[in-house]
Amino acid sequence: MCGIVGYIGKRDAYSIVIKGLKRLEYRGYDSAGIMLHDGKELKVSKTKGKVTDLEEVSQKDNNFFGSIGMGHTRWATHGVPNDVNSHPHLSNSGNLAIIHNGIIENYEPLKKELIKRGYVFHSDTDTEVLINLIEDVQKKENIKLGKAVQIALNQVVGAYAIAVFDKNKPDEIIVARLGSPLAIGIGDGEFFVASDASPFIEYTSNAIYLEDEEMAIVRLHKPIKVRKIKDDSLVDPYVQELKMNLEQIEKGGYDHFMMKEIYEQPNVIKDTYRGRLLANKGIIQMAGVEDNLEKFLNAERIIIVACGTSWHAGLVAEYIFEEFARIPVEVEYASEFRYRNPIINKKDVVVAISQSGETADTLAAIKLAKENGAFVFGVCNVVGSSISRETDAGAYTHAGPEIGVASTKAFTTQITVLTLIALRLAKAKGTMSNSDFHRYLLELEMIPEKVEEALETNEIAKKIANIYKDSPNCLYLGRGYNFPVALEGALKLKEISYIHAEGYPAAEMKHGPIALIDESMPVVVIAPKMGHYDKVVSNIQEIKSRSGKIIAVVTKGDTQVRDLADHVIEIPETSDALSPLLTTIPLQLLSYHIAVMRGCNVDQPRNLAKSVTVE
Ligand code: F6R
Repeated sequence: MCGIVGYIGKRDAYSIVIKGLKRLEYRGYDSAGIMLHDGKELKVSKTKGKVTDLEEVSQKDNNFFGSIGMGHTRWATHGVPNDVNSHPHLSNSGNLAIIHNGIIENYEPLKKELIKRGYVFHSDTDTEVLINLIEDVQKKENIKLGKAVQIALNQVVGAYAIAVFDKNKPDEIIVARLGSPLAIGIGDGEFFVASDASPFIEYTSNAIYLEDEEMAIVRLHKPIKVRKIKDDSLVDPYVQELKMNLEQIEKGGYDHFMMKEIYEQPNVIKDTYRGRLLANKGIIQMAGVEDNLEKFLNAERIIIVACGTSWHAGLVAEYIFEEFARIPVEVEYASEFRYRNPIINKKDVVVAISQSGETADTLAAIKLAKENGAFVFGVCNVVGSSISRETDAGAYTHAGPEIGVASTKAFTTQITVLTLIALRLAKAKGTMSNSDFHRYLLELEMIPEKVEEALETNEIAKKIANIYKDSPNCLYLGRGYNFPVALEGALKLKEISYIHAEGYPAAEMKHGPIALIDESMPVVVIAPKMGHYDKVVSNIQEIKSRSGKIIAVVTKGDTQVRDLADHVIEIPETSDALSPLLTTIPLQLLSYHIAVMRGCNVDQPRNLAKSVTVE
C-alpha cells in the first residue's frame, strides 16, 4: 500500500506532487509528506493525516517551492501513523531522501548493524533503515547513488517501490521496484514517477512500468536507463501509451467516487462484454480463453484464489462454473491457500481475481500455483498490473479506475467476465443446451439496462438507510447464487459505515445466528423469485416470528415477501445465475447512504487501503 509520487522538470513540483498524492490517497491515508529541492536546498514537510492536512502544514512555509519533488501518502505498517514516521525519510547526513511503498522484512538486523556503525534513527520505520543503508554503501564504496541503491537493494528482503533523491545530484531520481508498482511518465523535458499513472495523466501519455527487480535512473535531459537490480545489466525499457483519461479519475459531479462508480456499472458491464459477447452470432470470444481452451477443457478442477470482494466474485463464479460447465471449483482465500501447503496438480486451472492486480497474497498464491505446474489465468482490472503480468493468460475487466476504497463496479465486472468464461466453456463442453446458451447470451446482454433499473432503488435505499443508520448490527442472508451477495452486502456495510454486519447462507441461520434476532436486528434478505425462493420465504417467516426487521430484495411484482417484510426493494427479473449482478446494486446503495448519514468517509474508510501490497 502507500502511494508515491515524484517530479523532476521545469514546473512547480509542489502542486504536481500534492495533486498526485490526492489521486493516490486511495492507497493509504494515515499520513502524508513532501520533499522539494529548489536548486540549493532540500526541504521536507510531513504530517499525520491526509494530504489536505499536509497542504495546510506545508503552506505555512512561503519558501516551499522547487522543480524537483517527491511525496508520499502512507498506510502504516512499521510504526504508528505520526509525523515522525511519515515519509519522506532522510539519511543521517541529510543528503538523501526516500519515499517507499512496501515492507523491508529484514530491517531489524540491518538496523542493528547500522547502529553499530554509528547511525541514529529517528523513526520506527523500515524505510529509514533502507535510506541509511544506501548512504552507508555510498560512503563505503565511494560510488554513485544509482550503484549504491542497487547494492543496498541486494541486501534487502521484502517488497518495495522506492524513489531516492540525493541533494548533491539534484537532476536525478533513482527508482526501483519489487512487488509494489511503479510507473515513470515521460514528458517533454520532464519526468514523473508514481505508484500508478493517475498523477501524471494530464501531462503525458507515455509511460514505462518497471518490472519486478528493475530500477531506473531518471535524469533530466537524458534517456531513462533501466537496469536489473540483481546484476546491474541494462534492460530495454518498453514505453507504453496510456489509455486512461482525466475524466475517469475525477468525481464527475458525484459527492463520492463510490457513488460515481456504483452508477457507472451499466456502462462498465457493457464495456466488459463488448467484443466478447456476440449475442446475434451466438458466440463468445475471449482471446485468453480461446488460446488456452484445451487447458480449461482438460481441467480436473478450477481453483479460484482472491481476497475480499474479489473472493466474493469467485464464490459467485463457483456456482456458475459448476452449473454451466460442470467443472469442480474450489474458491480459496489467497492468504490461506498460499500458506497451507495446498495440493496443486498440473491439470488444475487456477483463476486469480483481483481488481488492483497488486494484492500481495493473491500474487503469492499465483506464484505458488505456477511453481506447482498449474496453468494460471488472471481476471484483473488494472492493465499492466503485477498480477496481469504474472499470470499465464487472462481477461481484463473493463471497469476503468476504481478509486473508492469499497469495491463496487469491480465486483460486477468480475462476475461478468467469469460468466462469459463459464458460458464459453459450457458451449465447448456441451454441458448446456443450445437454447439455454442463447438465452443466457441475450440475458447477459440485457443486464446493463436492468442494472440501470436497479439503480432506481436509490431513493428507497436512502429511506431504509435513514431508519437503520444507528443499528449496531445487521445480518445479510441469501441462498445459492445470492449467498455470496449476502457476504458482499455485509462487507460493504461494515467497511464503510463501521456497523457490525455478517453475511450467512439463509439456511444456516437456524444453526446459530438466529439467536441474535430480536426486534432491534435488521436482516437484509436477498429473495429474488427464482432458485430457492420458497426456502428463502420460509427463512423470512422464521425471522418475522422472532420480530426481526426484514429488508428484502425481491423481484419486481413479488407479493409473497412483500406481505412479510418491513421493507422491500424491487429489482428487475433475470435468471438465477445472473441475479447477483442486480441484487448487489441496492445493497451497495444501502451501505453508501448509511455511511454518508453516519458521517463516515465513504471513499477512504478508516484503516483500509485500496491496494493491499502487504501480506
Ligand atoms: C472491499 C475491497 C477489498 C478488496 C480486496 C482485494 O470493498 O475492496 O476487500 O476486494 O482487498 O483487492 P483486489 O481485488 O485488488 O485484489
